[in-house]
Amino acid sequence: MMPESYRGQLRQRVRRRAFTLLAALVAIPLLASGAAANDVEVRRAADAAERTTWDSVFSAAQAERGQSAYKDACARCHRESMAGADEAPALTGSAFMSAWNGQTLGDLHERIRTSMPTDTPGVYGRQQVADVIAYMLQFNGYPAGAAELSKESDALKEVRFVAGKP
Ligand code: HEC
Repeated sequence: MMPESYRGQLRQRVRRRAFTLLAALVAIPLLASGAAANDVEVRRAADAAERTTWDSVFSAAQAERGQSAYKDACARCHRESMAGADEAPALTGSAFMSAWNGQTLGDLHERIRTSMPTDTPGVYGRQQVADVIAYMLQFNGYPAGAAELSKESDALKEVRFVAGKP
């Protein structure tokens, strides 16, 4: 015969286990659907902005100009590989992609134009920054098209950065 107190403890332990299992069963699908909902939201926002980075929003010639500007202006900190170094974060890869997913190219342009390079911010003009963004997009696998990416903020705000290929 088990003493009553021991049986009570056992019952409590079993109940605690069952609760943990139940919590996991509820939490996992919730987390998964949360991620999916977020994706849907980004897509919906993308529809509203009409164009995304997948819609060939820069030209190959512009990306080429952007590449030489990038080498002169950005590579000493962010590296030619865009992998980043020390304080300078990567401008490619999943952390960069998820940081900018859902924002517009207006946001990215503004961020670069007003804060880069960190030691002398604001020295590059709107056109140069637009060209560098064209190169960053090409480097990250986005398609080039016939038209150049505009340097005007109204037009840049109409293009949403979308990480995953639709
Ligand atoms: C002197 C070094 C330096 C140079 C040159 C430089 N950056 Fe940066 N950059 C940094 C640092 C450090 C950070 C992170 C701190 C911050 O955001 O101020 C950063 C952050 C960024 C971010 C934000 C990244 C993110 O994940 O949100 C972008 C985009 C960026 N830089 C683009 C550029 C571009 C494009 C150029 C060239 C026009 C450039 N940077 C030149 C040092 C530099």
